[in-house]
Amino acid sequence: MNRQEPEVLITEEAIRRRVGRLGRRISKDYALVENLHLIGVLRGSFIFLADLSRALTIPRTVDFLAMASYETDVAEKGPARLIMDLQTGIAGKHVLVVEDIVDTGDTLECLMSLLASRGPASLKCCALLGKPARRKAEARIDYLGFEIPDVWVVGYGLDDKERHRSLPYIGIRSGEGGN
Ligand code: IMP
Ligand code: MG
Repeated sequence: MNRQEPEVLITEEAIRRRVGRLGRRISKDYALVENLHLIGVLRGSFIFLADLSRALTIPRTVDFLAMASYETDVAEKGPARLIMDLQTGIAGKHVLVVEDIVDTGDTLECLMSLLASRGPASLKCCALLGKPARRKAEARIDYLGFEIPDVWVVGYGLDDKERHRSLPYIGIRSGEGGN
């Protein structure tokens, strides 16, 4: 069994700086709205949402939902589906979906059309990571932390079969890339 720690792709410090910048930009863009409603997509976004929400300087509220697409690995990917819904309605609210990573964009696309049907005042998306190599044209990311290559990453909320979620940095899954 491979017990190697994941190789660092994005350091804790780089994440901290980038999340701070995202927070300042989003706070500026939404300066005139009464409240920004953040929707965290569980489970991968829980750490990013915790930091991003504290980097904002505008009034904000938080809710969560959960989507599932990957069972255990990319090879077993099925269609994205909602497995846990929001606690409150979003009609008339300014909504910002907070995602950990956008890979093909299937999950995001499905989620955004579901939320759009509920009549928010506005609907945008902020993702910490994006893998542009696999992106489909329909998935638009309004705020993006980092673009990364097509490797499986873990840490800062992201997992490999539930492992490594609590790593403070973004790492590349051990064994990835033929090492
Ligand atoms: P998509 O539907 O192909 O965009 O996949 C999005 C979802 O797959 C993300 O929200 C993650 O849950 C998961 N995912 C994709 N790539 C990675 C990765 O490198 N590490 C961890 N999870 C990933
Ligand atoms: Mg996710």
